[in-house]
Amino acid sequence: MSKKIEVIEVGPRDGFQSVKADCSLIPMEEKLKVIDELIASGVQHMEFTSFVSPKAIPQLADAAEVTKTVLDRYPQADLFALVPNLRGAQNAYALGLRKVCYVVSLSKSHNKANINRTHEQSLQAYQEIRRELPDLNVIVDLATTFGCPFEGKYEDPDQVVAFLKDYMDAGMNTCCLCDTIGIADPAQVRRVISALQKAYPSLELMVHFHDTRGLGMVNTLTAIDMGVTKVQSALGGLGGCPFAPGASGNLSTEDLVWMLNEMGYDTGITFSKILAAAKHQVAEISGQYSGHHICIQQETPCKK
Ligand code: COA
Ligand code: ZN
Repeated sequence: MSKKIEVIEVGPRDGFQSVKADCSLIPMEEKLKVIDELIASGVQHMEFTSFVSPKAIPQLADAAEVTKTVLDRYPQADLFALVPNLRGAQNAYALGLRKVCYVVSLSKSHNKANINRTHEQSLQAYQEIRRELPDLNVIVDLATTFGCPFEGKYEDPDQVVAFLKDYMDAGMNTCCLCDTIGIADPAQVRRVISALQKAYPSLELMVHFHDTRGLGMVNTLTAIDMGVTKVQSALGGLGGCPFAPGASGNLSTEDLVWMLNEMGYDTGITFSKILAAAKHQVAEISGQYSGHHICIQQETPCKK
């Protein structure tokens, strides 16, 4: 039996948040169409919105409405949202979500720019969420794990291990290593994952790579080679943190699915359908399609 890899789609969160709002807000119906197509392609795991300040992220101000609709349409899917504080977690919980990603940055300066909090305040908020909502599954999204737009690349993997100690003590089960600005390289990925596996063998790891320097795929594959089975990507390679200058798109889901399916992994996702979903999104929404390799692949006749 082929090995399962959980491809976690984050386009409706990381992708849509990065579409500039000064032109116009993406209509909710368009977002829902993309989500429908993702699910129809076989996507079973999705971060589909954020419960954050609408002033910080105007594109996701419709989080409550989107949540109600997707929970109603797809009760069996593994659907979750990003939250930056207790209030976001409470709002998500009240609507029926039982899984969230709580975001904190390894970089002090990015944590301040992104969520206006010190490391101490972020830890406190995480502890509050755990205390107030004990049956909420809270994944810790560690933004800027590999480097920061203001502080540069991080060379010492023990810095990540040390930072996560308080979160381990507070009950963290799963941590998503996020390369917010696409600065990681495979050797660094290997060092960080290896240090974490050694320090915290019970901790489940996920990865989230941006493709800023074209290394999203190879970094993801490195993590998979080290035993990580949950990997994030965004349809059409859309994405980027509006509070990280120069940040660009995520590893594109259709590229990732193509590679994993060809390698014999079980993603549960049909390539032709996810490609069609990406093209539809490009045509209707993003205008920022970055999965250009895929067009060539689709037009190349398969010799198998
Ligand atoms: N959901 C919705 N609104 C929220 C909120 C939440 N989870 N938390 C706070 N707010 C609102 C407050 O009510 C307040 O609104 P008002 O100005 O109309 O009174 C406003 O946001 C500011 O609240 P405050 O607690 O003072 O927060 P802040 O200004 O220090 O901002 C965050 C902190 C976390 C709310 C904000 O920085 C944020 O939402 N960041 C998200 C960034 C993000 O999503 N980045 C990309 C993903 S990594
Ligand atoms: Zn991201």
